[in-house]
Amino acid sequence: VSKEVSLMKKAHEFASEYFHHLLLHTEEGENALHYLQERGFSTELIEKYKIGWSLPSWDALTTLLERKGMDLQEIEKTGLIIRKENELKYFDRFRGRIMFPVFDETGHVVAFSGRILHKKENEAKYLNSPESPIFQKSQILYNLDKARLDIRKQRNVIIFEGFLDVISASKAGITNGVATMGTALTSQHITKLKRLTTNVTLCFDGDKAGMEAARKAATSLQGQSIQTEVAIIPDAMDPDDYIKNYGEVAFREKIIDKPHSYLSFMMIVSKRDKNFNNENDTLQYIQEILEILSDRNSTVERDLYIRQLSQETNVSEEAIYQHLRKIQGKKA
Ligand code: CTP
Ligand code: MN
Ligand code: MN
Ligand code: MN
Ligand code: MN
Repeated sequence: VSKEVSLMKKAHEFASEYFHHLLLHTEEGENALHYLQERGFSTELIEKYKIGWSLPSWDALTTLLERKGMDLQEIEKTGLIIRKENELKYFDRFRGRIMFPVFDETGHVVAFSGRILHKKENEAKYLNSPESPIFQKSQILYNLDKARLDIRKQRNVIIFEGFLDVISASKAGITNGVATMGTALTSQHITKLKRLTTNVTLCFDGDKAGMEAARKAATSLQGQSIQTEVAIIPDAMDPDDYIKNYGEVAFREKIIDKPHSYLSFMMIVSKRDKNFNNENDTLQYIQEILEILSDRNSTVERDLYIRQLSQETNVSEEAIYQHLRKIQGKKA
């Protein structure tokens, strides 16, 4: 590891301790602490994920780093501090935000995500560290450092959209969860997970964006021969909302333990915006599902889903089978 990289990590380690201390042990952190408690985060969870608070000041952290004699020019490359234009002065990137450290696989802090306490209009809810020599978004999965052993043991990983969902799910005893942090699931993410397990459960937000992200992620996973299931959260809630509304037991029993198969999930997504009284919608639905089925060689699976398609659309099983053979003919 180069000198620069270890300095960058050291600065992040120091900053995370500082933010964490501000949240738990100072008056300035009280509002943020109450906010987190209100959202159901215990001190134990706050400790485990080293959650913190950054002061609404331009240079609180920068001043401390400088006093410790750290090379600000190097640290600036991580975006933790920002250089003023035309000056050799720096200021803090994160000001007045709840701080979530992002850990790499070996448990080192390599980035932060800062949540605004009370979101105003036109304000981003989260401010993130930029890409840097120690942080590549396409490589990092939140919580992989803590979940790795459990993923192996349980032979399954649950992928969430947000880190708050991972933290909430851990209250429900779910220790094999990771999060993509709002970006697409990349092939690098999948490669990392594949070393641990080939069974994935997707548990993205139940809103339109989340369902669409889940569809994309599920398709990439299928393409990499990963057994994929999808847990769906009702009423556009996310896992954290669901746990807050219905509790940890319901989350486990009704959502996590009852995932949909890839195909049944794709049927649900495809059906969403379709009306089977409309001929075009019906045709498009059948076409979309058969496209997926045509790549499968399980005859049992085929039989099962074609029967379901027929029942849903009122098109005969025979006609659907014929259409499937036509698609296969084109692909051959
Ligand atoms: N995200 C981000 N920037 C935003 C919005 C979202 O980086 N402006 C990322 C965050 O990593 C977040 C994830 O996308 O964890 C999911 O976004 P969202 O569902 O909007 O956030 P929640 O995790 O539900 O946060 P909260 O419950 O606090 O609203
Ligand atoms: Mn502590
Ligand atoms: Mn979302
Ligand atoms: Mn969400
Ligand atoms: Mn949420």
